[in-house]
Amino acid sequence: MAAQPEIRILNNAADMFQAAADEFAGLAHAATRANQRFTVALSGGSTPKSLYTLLASRSDIPWKQIYFFFGDERHVPPDHPESNYRMAHTAMLAHVPPENVFRVRGELADANAAALGYEQSMRTFFRLQPGEFPRFDLTLLGLGPDGHTASLFPGSAALHETQRLVVANWVEKFNSYRITFTYPVLNHSACVLFLASGTEKAHALHEILEGSEDLPAKRVRPTDGRLIWMSDRDAASGLSGSTR
Ligand code: 6PG
Repeated sequence: MAAQPEIRILNNAADMFQAAADEFAGLAHAATRANQRFTVALSGGSTPKSLYTLLASRSDIPWKQIYFFFGDERHVPPDHPESNYRMAHTAMLAHVPPENVFRVRGELADANAAALGYEQSMRTFFRLQPGEFPRFDLTLLGLGPDGHTASLFPGSAALHETQRLVVANWVEKFNSYRITFTYPVLNHSACVLFLASGTEKAHALHEILEGSEDLPAKRVRPTDGRLIWMSDRDAASGLSGSTR
């Protein structure tokens, strides 16, 4: 039975990133104490950059025991301005041993090959048997104004994937492929933390937490894990008092 979402609305974006960094640190300490490692799937886009920069400034993060994957990546090389890897590496991953960072090979001409290769790297790292899904200690996700998350966009084929871990998903509006985790991976996480900031996310956040629109991000409900939504007041401006 999926847990009810934990909703935390912070006064502003800075407070939201501080709360997210504290949550990250707490989960990292618990996981490294219990399992000597903390596995994280990073989100891309612009929102999380401030979180990554904040984490990089903290002295209480056990970087050497943290293993970073990416919930999605653009079909671009790692030094491309749109690369999620480039954004995260610039903001934070320079603190991490390179062998602890697993990036998508977005430079491959064939996006399907990039997805298959990434899926294999996850199967190897998590020592998965056929049919098994990885259980990330923490999956960070963002929210698009259209309700997408990772690269699971409305109307895209990846929304229907139930077997693969990672797929190349054609995104019409960008006229390009994105490489993305699938719902089975996202919903196998021990903890999913969404960050939503700004008024442009208000409609989607209302629909997901209170409304009836079947938006891609709404289908992220860990079957045996925590679901945390953190937002600032601007992104929460469409929510009723009962949710706030
Ligand atoms: C990406 C992200 C994507 C992002 C949303 C929100 O690769 O772009 O994974 O899902 O989280 O598009 O993006 P912003 O944070 O830039 O608003």
